[in-house]
Amino acid sequence: MSTGVPNRFRRCGLWYPQALQWNARQPHKWIGRTFQVARSGKVAVIGAGFYGSTTAQRLAEYDIFETVVLTDIIEGKPEGLALDMNQSRPIEGFETKVVGQTTGPNGEGYEAIAGSEIVIITAGLPRKPGMSRMDLIETNAKIVRQVSENVARHAPDAVVIVVSNPLDEMTALAQIATQFPKNRVMGQAGMLDTARFTHFVAEELGVPVASVKTLTLGSHGDTMVPVPSACTVDGKPLSELLPAEKIEELVTRTRNGGAEVVALLKTGSAYYAPSAAAARMARAVHEDSGAVMPVCAWVEGEYGISGVYLGVTAELGKEGVKRVVETQLTDSELAALKEAAEAVRAKQADVQHL
Ligand code: APR
Repeated sequence: MSTGVPNRFRRCGLWYPQALQWNARQPHKWIGRTFQVARSGKVAVIGAGFYGSTTAQRLAEYDIFETVVLTDIIEGKPEGLALDMNQSRPIEGFETKVVGQTTGPNGEGYEAIAGSEIVIITAGLPRKPGMSRMDLIETNAKIVRQVSENVARHAPDAVVIVVSNPLDEMTALAQIATQFPKNRVMGQAGMLDTARFTHFVAEELGVPVASVKTLTLGSHGDTMVPVPSACTVDGKPLSELLPAEKIEELVTRTRNGGAEVVALLKTGSAYYAPSAAAARMARAVHEDSGAVMPVCAWVEGEYGISGVYLGVTAELGKEGVKRVVETQLTDSELAALKEAAEAVRAKQADVQHL
C-alpha cells in the first residue's frame, strides 16, 4: 500500500479503545480516521521455515518496524528469504528492512538480534500426518532451549512469543531457559484456534467472518477448550443460531483444525493463519496497544488456576502480558479449563528436564 508519506512515517489507523480486541480490523486499513506513527524498533523471527518466513513477511508489510531480523541454521536460507522480501518493498510499498542471518551451533550470528524488542521463536519441526503435537516434544525441546538461551544472551529485554509445538510446553521451556519474567514470555495458539472456530462458524452460517466472535481457551491440543457461551454472530448468541449438535461438530473441527491442514498438506503444517496470529500479537506488543487476545500466558490465580502456562485471554503491551483477563464461563467450560490446566501442568513440569 503506497501512502506517499515521508520515509520514516506512514499513515496508520487509530487503534480506538473500543477496538481493543484481538479481532479488530487491521488498523492500517482504516483510511480516513488516520494518524502518523514513526517506524521504529527491531523484531526478530527465529526459524525461517514456512511459519517463520510468513511471519517475517507480515511484520515487514505492517511497515511499523525499522527492522525485521530472520534467522535459521540452514546456511543462506534466511539471507535469501530476506533479500527476496526486501525486493518486494517497492511493489508492496513498505520501508521496513528485512535482515537475514544464518546462526551456528554455538550461537554464532545471534548478534543480529541484539536490541530486539520482540523475538518470535518458530524454530522446530512441524508434525507429519498422523503425528500429535506432543510427538515433537523431545526434538523441539532441544531446539527451543538452545534458541532461548541465545535469545537471553543477545536480546535480554525482549518479549518472547513462542509458536513451536507442542506450544504450551515449549512456551514454559522458553521461560525456563531465558529466565525472563513470566509476563515477557507467551505463546501463540488461542488466536489461531479462535480464528479457526470463527471461520467454521462463518462458513456454516454464510456470514462475514467480521460478524462472528468466538473464543477458545485451554491448551493447543486435545484439551483445547472452545467456549461456545462466549460466541456470538452480530451480537446474537451462537446457541440461538445453531443447534447444539452442530456447534459441537464445529468445536470438534476446531480442535482438529491443525491436523486437518497437516493431513491435506502431507508435508509440513499450517502457517498462513498461524503467522497472522503471531504477527498480530507482536504488533500489539510493539504498539503497546492493550489489545485483548487469546494467548498462552502464565496464570497465577485466575479462574482458580495457578502456576501454569495456559490458553487464556490477556491484555498485551510493551511488557508482554499486562494482565490475564478473565472471561465469564459456564460451569462445564470452567471444569474443562481446569482439566486442561492439569493436563499441561504435568507436561510442563517434565519439560525442564528435556
Ligand atoms: N535455530 C534456528 N532455526 C532452526 C533451528 C535452530 N536451532 N532448528 C531448526 N530450525 C529451523 C529449520 O531449519 C527450519 O527452517 O526451523 C525451521 C522450521 O521450518 P519448517 O520445517 O518449515 O516448519 P514450520 O512450518 O515453520 O513450523 C515451525 O511451528 O507450528 C509450529 O509445529 C510447528 O514446531 C513447528 C514450528
